[in-house]
Amino acid sequence: MNRLQNKIAIVTGAGSGIGRAMAEVFAKEGAKVIVADYKAESGQETVENIVTSGGQAEFAQTDVSKSNEVEAMIKIAVEKFGGLDILVNNAGVALMADLASTTDEIWQKTIDVDLKGVFLGVKFAVPEMEKRGKGKIINTASIAGLVGFQGITAYCAAKGGVVNMTKELALDLASKKINVNAIAPGVIKTAMTTDILKDPKMAEGMLVQTPIGRLGEPEDIAYAALYLASDESDFVTGHTLVVDGGWIAK
Ligand SMILES: NC(=O)c1ccc[n+]([C@@H]2O[C@H](COP(=O)([O-])OP(=O)(O)OC[C@H]3O[C@@H](n4cnc5c(N)ncnc54)[C@H](O)[C@@H]3O)[C@@H](O)[C@H]2O)c1
Repeated sequence: MNRLQNKIAIVTGAGSGIGRAMAEVFAKEGAKVIVADYKAESGQETVENIVTSGGQAEFAQTDVSKSNEVEAMIKIAVEKFGGLDILVNNAGVALMADLASTTDEIWQKTIDVDLKGVFLGVKFAVPEMEKRGKGKIINTASIAGLVGFQGITAYCAAKGGVVNMTKELALDLASKKINVNAIAPGVIKTAMTTDILKDPKMAEGMLVQTPIGRLGEPEDIAYAALYLASDESDFVTGHTLVVDGGWIAK
């Protein structure tokens, strides 16, 4: 029996990296997946990957920072597949800027996508999950939401906000049998980290910080999300699952 058989899931930021791996793993485990991303081409590519492998997926072009687009994304899940069981608020941006170089625009963009995007996703998903009698919400935070990372002021603020909002939402929604959890990835090899990892010194520095001796793959995060999306985690809520090769265990 597949772990997400007959479940309907939305994964935001699923055109690339961690979100794409989550969408593909969920589909392999039997879920019908709405692939949401603001970029159409890469989102469609994820849908094609899933369909070619025998899974079910549809694309929803969505900017997660826009209320009306998030509302429309939830409607697409209902119209195409009949409801919503699982929402992964995964879309995110990491704009490298320390305190001095964080402009109003960088601050606003980061908070809008990385923090408000999560809030909007939950807000519009809950009424549909209530109709199903239960639901699973997973927010992609970061270890930069649990400890300070120099040089990314707004990102640390947004991800720290995601970690604590996850706890508040878990309390708010527990009586509705909606579990809300977060995942805090360490350094994962995706488009987000390509530029940093191109610099051999930076790549070596990241590796040295990772006790397990390798950097993360998107699938490392996707399998953590699979657990939190499945019925196996029904008693887990308000938790942030760290998946970082031991980076912050030190
Ligand atoms: N890669 C890492 O090392 C790492 C570490 C910790 C946390 N994360 C988090 O993981 C999540 C996924 O990142 P990734 O590494 O896969 O990066 P990525 O750049 O490969 O993927 C991010 C995806 O989000 C989409 N996106 C960006 N802004 C959007 C918006 N406004 N609306 C809808 N979609 C939008 C992009 O188009 C892209 O497909 C992010 O929340 C990121 O902060 C990544």
